[in-house]
Amino acid sequence: MNREFGAETLVELERICARYPRREAALLPAMRLLEREFGCVDEPGMILVAKLLGVSPAHAYGVLTFYTHFRRSSDAKVLLQVCSTLPCALKGSESLYDHLKKITAGEPAITLKKVECLANCDRAPCLQVNEEYIDNATPEMCDQLVAQIRAGRWTPPGQIYSVPPNTHQPVLLRHVLEAGSETMEHYLARGGYKTAEEIVKSGRNPDEVVETVFKSGLRGRGGAGFPTGQKWKFLAKNDKPRYLVVNADESEPGTFKDKLLIDRDPHQLIEGIIIAAYAIRSKTCYIYIRGEFGIGAWILQKAVDEAYEKGFLGRKVFGTASEIDVTVHRGGGAYICGEETGLLSSLEGKRGNPKIKPPFPAVEGLFRSPTIVNNVETIATLPHILKNGVEWFRKMGTEKSPGPKIFSVCGHVHRPGNYEVPLGIPIKELIYDLAGGVRGGKKLKAVIPGGLSAPVFAADEVDNGYVKVDAATKAESRVPITMDFESIAGAGSMLGSGGVIVMDEETCMVDALWNTLRFYAHESCGQCTPCREGTGWIAKLAGRMERGGGRDDEIALLDEVAANMCGRTICVLADAAAMPARSFVKKFRAEFEAHARAKKCPYKHGHAPKPEPAGVGSH
Ligand SMILES: Cc1cc2nc3c(=O)[nH]c(=O)nc-3n(C[C@H](O)[C@H](O)[C@H](O)COP(=O)(O)O)c2cc1C
Ligand code: SF4
Repeated sequence: MNREFGAETLVELERICARYPRREAALLPAMRLLEREFGCVDEPGMILVAKLLGVSPAHAYGVLTFYTHFRRSSDAKVLLQVCSTLPCALKGSESLYDHLKKITAGEPAITLKKVECLANCDRAPCLQVNEEYIDNATPEMCDQLVAQIRAGRWTPPGQIYSVPPNTHQPVLLRHVLEAGSETMEHYLARGGYKTAEEIVKSGRNPDEVVETVFKSGLRGRGGAGFPTGQKWKFLAKNDKPRYLVVNADESEPGTFKDKLLIDRDPHQLIEGIIIAAYAIRSKTCYIYIRGEFGIGAWILQKAVDEAYEKGFLGRKVFGTASEIDVTVHRGGGAYICGEETGLLSSLEGKRGNPKIKPPFPAVEGLFRSPTIVNNVETIATLPHILKNGVEWFRKMGTEKSPGPKIFSVCGHVHRPGNYEVPLGIPIKELIYDLAGGVRGGKKLKAVIPGGLSAPVFAADEVDNGYVKVDAATKAESRVPITMDFESIAGAGSMLGSGGVIVMDEETCMVDALWNTLRFYAHESCGQCTPCREGTGWIAKLAGRMERGGGRDDEIALLDEVAANMCGRTICVLADAAAMPARSFVKKFRAEFEAHARAKKCPYKHGHAPKPEPAGVGSH
């Protein structure tokens, strides 16, 4: 069977291609067109887009098979995806999947799939039905859902944001719960776009804007915490076009803040883009949004279209000679595309393979041109800094970690959600006061403070501070942990993306680690041997331990393999798997030993033997 696009789709494809300097960069968007037109990306469809974009079918196949989010068959009308990553697993997604498997068996209208993090961790356990999220899913909800799909009368519920973002004075999240906060009218009514307009119309030297951001001390909110103004200053000075790339991949499990900013306040982000593009002298911006955010991509595209209509984007920005084009580019479902060089590979229409640094993107990035990659929250902070000034920004937070920060809190807390607070608030305040403490009157066991890649804290460290040893006197003291880059690093972990995963006393830490490591084994791009082999190896060791087949000496082996994965690979995904593994073993060793001794999981929900996880190393 051959596939052909109709005339209108061909025009649409050409319009998409025109937004990139190379046609093959439109490969992922072209696959989305295939999905829309034919319900899937099958082999004839893939051959069609390969021909239309001038790449070989082998290249298109290599790209397609890197990503997990494309539908490869149109047999079933409904794709039901169950998140299986730690935040959802802590809330019972495993048994929900088993339940769904039972009730959908033999149902031709439904394809059921277990997937990795959907970035909806505060509403765990969560499902996706085609593009729609189902929050806080229960077996009863699943029964109803499946019955409705069978009867052909399922309608999407739409997502309701009901969790108060915080009790401190919010900045970026101030308006997200107001009705219509995502619309242009709402944004304009609260003075939106005024700051960008003033900057662009003033004809101010862009370097002054860079200097303001530099002086504010803003640090990237995507994970590494690199100073934004400093990064902008690293841009290579040559005659190549400069690119601004907004990282909206939000792939770090436990993090769901960018989703809220996109869904509920997209114009705040677009105003930040105008300011950043002006500052770095870029005329082209790509927003790389993760494949799972189909609705977010739609909301963002609508907001971008409105901004073009108003003349805030395009050829004559605010009626001046400034030009800024913004393209929303949807990914295909791969954690590694959150890593900036993997993201850029993906944006070029390739497999999302990270590249060795240097050269850093600021010197040689997208299409080999100087490129700034910044996180959604980083960019959305800019209008506030430029409007209110450096002093205002620095009044919040600490000297080295200034400003407000959104922390996504999930797991076993009363009130999971996004909390925007000044950097440097005590971790106890975030967990016990804002998020309401551990639910069900249970005790705290552990906290992952900065997304799944961050080393874990034991409850004692959270409650009483970490143990600091004085280098000279060797005297030990307790230092309270606060939510800023320095304090968390001092305590041996990292602030990362600000995804805080809370585990109660009933959590089996071996099971939690097994789940964590399965994620990394699944998401490794496979280029580096220590990562490709190491992630799978330590996942298998943790899994065997949890299933009752582990030996005492394998605890040290797990730690040794993890230690050997660090610092030896193209990107830090290997470290992101190894560091949590080492911290789990170090801080909860007794639990690993108990598993090895008892030859089973000693927790009451103990596991029956399970087969090896499917999909390990699928990239
Ligand atoms: C494995 C991995 C995954 C990452 N995922 C994300 C992500 O989902 N979103 C993000 O903004 N940054 C992510 N990062 C960090 C980016 O590489 C990059 O540092 C960031 O987008 C820069 O923006 P910032 O300076 O504004 O933080 C990831 C890094 C690694 C190593
Ligand atoms: S460390 Fe892992 S994810 Fe990163 S490039 Fe190497 S194999 Fe790929």
